[in-house]
Amino acid sequence: MSDHVLADRNSGLLSLQLNRPDKKNALTRAMYSRLAEELEAADADPAIRAVLISGGEACFTSGNDLADFIQAPPSGLDSAVFSFMSALFELKKPVVAAVAGPAVGIGTTLLLHCDLVYVSRDAMLRMPFVNLGLCPEFGSSLILPRLLGHARATQLLMLGESFSGEQAAQWGIANQALGSGQATLDKAREMALRFGRLAPSAVADAKRLMRAPGREELRRVIEEEGALFGQRLRSPEAAEALSAFMQRREPDFSRFA
Ligand code: COA
Repeated sequence: MSDHVLADRNSGLLSLQLNRPDKKNALTRAMYSRLAEELEAADADPAIRAVLISGGEACFTSGNDLADFIQAPPSGLDSAVFSFMSALFELKKPVVAAVAGPAVGIGTTLLLHCDLVYVSRDAMLRMPFVNLGLCPEFGSSLILPRLLGHARATQLLMLGESFSGEQAAQWGIANQALGSGQATLDKAREMALRFGRLAPSAVADAKRLMRAPGREELRRVIEEEGALFGQRLRSPEAAEALSAFMQRREPDFSRFA
């Protein structure tokens, strides 16, 4: 199970690679827990100057494991997914993401909490929460309308429209779109190593200052989204959407008022 996340510490960099290719790097509770542990350990380790998160050359992640959503829905603030996202949110050190292929659900949400994001041009980003009978998570309902404007955020968060790496870079969700998965990984690694050559306390201070405005409001929204997400996961609408995915059919919401 633990090899579904590969962790490598080298040259002041903690590289975390999602490694569950047969399920498109779908994230299980065990993977979230491992990621949370690694991030917390990195923050406490003076030898680590920056963190790189990737999913390899072909796929970032298909998001939360949908079988897990059915069998063991996250229970709120003490769940493994919340521990991971909290560790990312609280991390004092810079985080760089390298995204190639699909980045679905939390795979896109988590990018909003990284410091630098590199994408392959043909990456496919998508937040199909409403499509699954769920709701936006971990601050995206606050961050995306502010970043993109209400109209475009509605397309992404309510209709669950997918968008490319090229668009993510144009819209400011990513720093740069590159021509291939390998070029994306190389660029992200180069930039993460660049952080490692800077003065660590100055980097941490700059990150803290840049993220301070609106942080308490963001925390409040994250908690509200988390509570609602947990309720929605147990709703008949989500049950229909999740069983439709398992049965490889379109969901039918026509019976819901
Ligand atoms: N949870 C669990 N399993 C998943 C998964 C997920 N989120 N995403 C993909 N898989 C599994 C598929 O069931 C399939 O398993 P199988 O080979 O045992 O049947 C395998 O991964 C490959 O997926 P497939 O859909 O055939 O790959 P694709 O390249 O055609 O499409 C995605 C890739 C990511 C676009 C597509 O799998 C997808 O949309 N997945 C669901 C994403 C999602 O809704 N995530 C939750 C958001 S909250």
